[in-house]
Amino acid sequence: MDVLISPSILSADFANLERDLGRVATADMVHVDVMDQHFVPNLTLGLPVVERLVQVSPVPVDTHLMIEDPDRWAPGFAEAGAASVTFHAEAARAPVRLARELRRLGARAGLALRPATPVEPFVDLLPEVDMVLVMTVEPGFGGQSFLDVTLPKIRRARRAVEEAGLDVWVEVDGGISTETVERAAEAGANVFVAGSAVYGADDAAVAIDDLRRLAAAAHRHA
Ligand code: DX5
Ligand code: ZN
Repeated sequence: MDVLISPSILSADFANLERDLGRVATADMVHVDVMDQHFVPNLTLGLPVVERLVQVSPVPVDTHLMIEDPDRWAPGFAEAGAASVTFHAEAARAPVRLARELRRLGARAGLALRPATPVEPFVDLLPEVDMVLVMTVEPGFGGQSFLDVTLPKIRRARRAVEEAGLDVWVEVDGGISTETVERAAEAGANVFVAGSAVYGADDAAVAIDDLRRLAAAAHRHA
C-alpha cells in the first residue's frame, strides 16, 4: 500500500500561498480545503484561487470541498485541473452521478465522511470512487486533536475496499502528526493530510519525511 502525504495549506500563510506550496514540494499532493461557511463554520477560498494554485503547485492538488451543494459546484474544481476532488457524503444529493462526472472530467473522485457518518451506507458506492476520506476531526478548522473514535471506521473502510477488491485510497484528515500517524496507518489509511504538523514545523520537508517513514513502518507492522 503506497503511503501518500498531502500537506494542508489551511495552515500555510494565506498571503504567501505560492511560496508555501514550494515548501511542500517533496509531498505527494497538496491538500486544499474549500469551505463555504454553511457546511462548516469557516470560510477559506474558492474556485478562482484553486485555479491559480493548480497552475503554480509543484505537486498535484487534492481538493477537499466542505461545501453545500457539491453536485453543482464540485465539477468546476475538476475542470480547473485539481487532481482529486473530494465532496462530502452528507452534502451530496446524487453522489454516484457526481463521482462519475468528476472522473469524466479527469479528476479522481473522493467521498468524505464526517466523524459521525458511518461508512456502511456507502460501501456499495466504492467502485464509483477513487478515495474515501475519513475525517479524524470535525471539519472546519486546523490544529484540532485527532479523534480516536474514528479508528474503527478507518478499519471498516479499509476492509470494505479490500473485500471489494478495489484500489480505493483511504485518506485521513485532522490531527495527523508524528504522534497519531501510526495509529491511522495501522488502521488502514494510506493518504495522510497534515496541516499544522507540516506548516508548523521548522522544516516542512523533514516533517513530511517523518510522517511518511512512520506511516510506512506502521503498515509493515500492521
Ligand atoms: C479541517 C481540514 C483539514 C485541516 C487539518 O476541516 O479538512 O484539512 O487542514 O489540519 P490539521 O492537520 O492541523 O489538523
Ligand atoms: Zn481537509
